[in-house]
Amino acid sequence: MTPERSDALVLFGATGDLAHKKIFPAIYAMAEAGRLEVPVVGVASSEGDDEFLRQKVRASLDEAIEHLDRHVVDRLCERVRYVSGDYREDRVYDDLASVVDGAARPLFYLAIPPALFDDVVTGLGRVGIAEDGRVVVEKPFGRDRASASELNECIHRVFPEERIFRIDHYLGKESVENLLVFRFANSMLEPVWNRNFISSVQITMAEDFGVGSRGRFYESVGALRDVLQNHLLQIVALLGMEPPAGADEASLRDEKVKLLRQVRTLRSDELVRGQYRSYVDEDGVDGGSDVETYAAVRFEIESWRWAGVPWLVRTGKCLAVTGTEAIVTFNAPPRLLFTAEGAPEPGPNRLRFLLGKHDGVKLHLHAKKPGDELVPEPVDLEVSYDEALGPREEAYQRLLDDAMDGDARRFGRADALDEQWRIVEDVLEHHEEVHLYTAGTMGPKEADRLAADAGGWITPLPPDPG
Ligand code: BG6
Repeated sequence: MTPERSDALVLFGATGDLAHKKIFPAIYAMAEAGRLEVPVVGVASSEGDDEFLRQKVRASLDEAIEHLDRHVVDRLCERVRYVSGDYREDRVYDDLASVVDGAARPLFYLAIPPALFDDVVTGLGRVGIAEDGRVVVEKPFGRDRASASELNECIHRVFPEERIFRIDHYLGKESVENLLVFRFANSMLEPVWNRNFISSVQITMAEDFGVGSRGRFYESVGALRDVLQNHLLQIVALLGMEPPAGADEASLRDEKVKLLRQVRTLRSDELVRGQYRSYVDEDGVDGGSDVETYAAVRFEIESWRWAGVPWLVRTGKCLAVTGTEAIVTFNAPPRLLFTAEGAPEPGPNRLRFLLGKHDGVKLHLHAKKPGDELVPEPVDLEVSYDEALGPREEAYQRLLDDAMDGDARRFGRADALDEQWRIVEDVLEHHEEVHLYTAGTMGPKEADRLAADAGGWITPLPPDPG
């Protein structure tokens, strides 16, 4: 039976950065698509009335969306309500209960620090509005394995697992979800998608900007918790997993968990951490901070498909480029005996998934160089998904829409999260000090050793000017 759609949207942390940058634009896009005709209630500690929040919504949309439909904005704002107060006070939940009165299945979005989850979930449970409600929680889900398990216990006191939606917005990206479809919809890939033909896989998520105004938050997470444990392990799972037995949420998520279980817990010599030099001068950052703004790891997946293939995964802020790529490198061909004496040897083929803003796929091949001699020259086959597939919905819009529908396929499940924390749990505690790197480079040179026998790290391509 298809679950019924939520009939109210309640956003905790309504005056926060995430609401401003991502959630209000997603709500607008849903409203524009006719997918949000329900009350939208914001909750936050700042004093104010409904008009106060409506102004914030308008400010967010003006900033984020180029061609706003004012009619959609006005209609949306009519449905916006605001409840202000301290999340520890009973009064907030009593007020909220009267504002959402009549809604049978509200969706509660907790865009707040995990330290506040307990108060909020308990408050919702006390006033009885969570009975058939759903809850969306933001990443990182906990700080480590133990705290994630405590958070689960806390949320499970009020919401059963099937009504919990743990967000990892990479799961909502079309470009990331495409990895699974691309792999299994193109039958030429599956026979070679294994240790016999693939020599390494590398994933880079690079950003050419620093932590900006998020210094205080970043100090409590670092690159391992902010990105690697969640976004990048999701990409690993989609590239490495077996085909799911069905399209249902259990089959998809079971298969991912199986893959994650095959990744051994990382050891400290498999991790290199870095920090850009001016990080300690950022607002909210401790002068002697050892928090990593760069992390690179190397591991293997212990399965029949992948044994012996190095997986190289890295992320960093203030790097030379912004770009997220997954690159699958195939074995190099043997020496071509028929090529001209001294001709360059063809390197390995590479399949490059561009997962960032301008997504697409590139296959690095070799063709005959024009001329008398039999000499190979590198050429690329490439597809821009913007051009081939047209505009697609943003991750937050897709995920919010899914959660309203009660569809958990694109959300993290407790057992998968537990495995993700298990993979990084030792290196969160035991690691070398950060290596400093200069902004605008590709991170500390100490990370080179991880990729040395796999042909080195490959820098993501700059965005296509077209
Ligand atoms: C967020 C991290 O989850 O993802 C940020 O907290 C990071 O630090 C962001 O910048 C990157 O997301 P995207 O969609 O721009 O790749």
